[in-house]
Amino acid sequence: MKIFLDTGDVEAIKRAHDTGLLDGITTNPTHIAKTGRKFQDVVKEICGIVSGPVSVEAMADTAEGLVNEAQKAAQLAPNIAIKIPMTVEGLKAVPILEDKGIKCNVTMVFSSTQTFLAMKAGATFVSIVISRLDAVCNEGDILISDAVTIKRNFNFSSNVLAASLKTQNHVLSCLRAGVDIVTVPEFLFFQMYKHPLTDVGLAQFARDWESVPK
Ligand code: E4P
Repeated sequence: MKIFLDTGDVEAIKRAHDTGLLDGITTNPTHIAKTGRKFQDVVKEICGIVSGPVSVEAMADTAEGLVNEAQKAAQLAPNIAIKIPMTVEGLKAVPILEDKGIKCNVTMVFSSTQTFLAMKAGATFVSIVISRLDAVCNEGDILISDAVTIKRNFNFSSNVLAASLKTQNHVLSCLRAGVDIVTVPEFLFFQMYKHPLTDVGLAQFARDWESVPK
């Protein structure tokens, strides 16, 4: 399972990248707005840090508009992927962009029928939004395991990308379901390293090591 960071914060991306375990980045307009910087400047800086896919959102209401926006954004760096809205127009844009070699990440997917349609359209990534769904019906786990089943049943090539994770239990559900990628906030990325018993055990070893004659 690959790990992406879901953020526009360049310093957070550097910290996660330094671990050697970061595989890519997802952003959205909210993340970019929080930086207070120009879209192009942030995206170019992120793509200079991370060699894996960096998803940025295309903002338009029509397939033609999305294709135009996506083509502009794709010129910023070779590792750009384009977030496409889960709409009729969005899924019309997906095969056009994928045929041009531009990877699409269909975003704001909240149901298994949406998952199926995004995969059928040929998206490289399908972003399943777990915690926002959990907030209304607590069915995030079902959605991600259905996405893995749909991919397998119909031999789709899309990557199941679990997004909007907030807890280690969300990560655990993704590991059990066998999703291809999780995208997580920085706090959750580093929380995954931690366990209280690890701290207790290592502290004891450090104390005992002091008493070993050297
Ligand atoms: C998904 O495509 C978004 O970038 C993001 O994962 C949404 O996450 P949030 O619910 O934490 O805002």
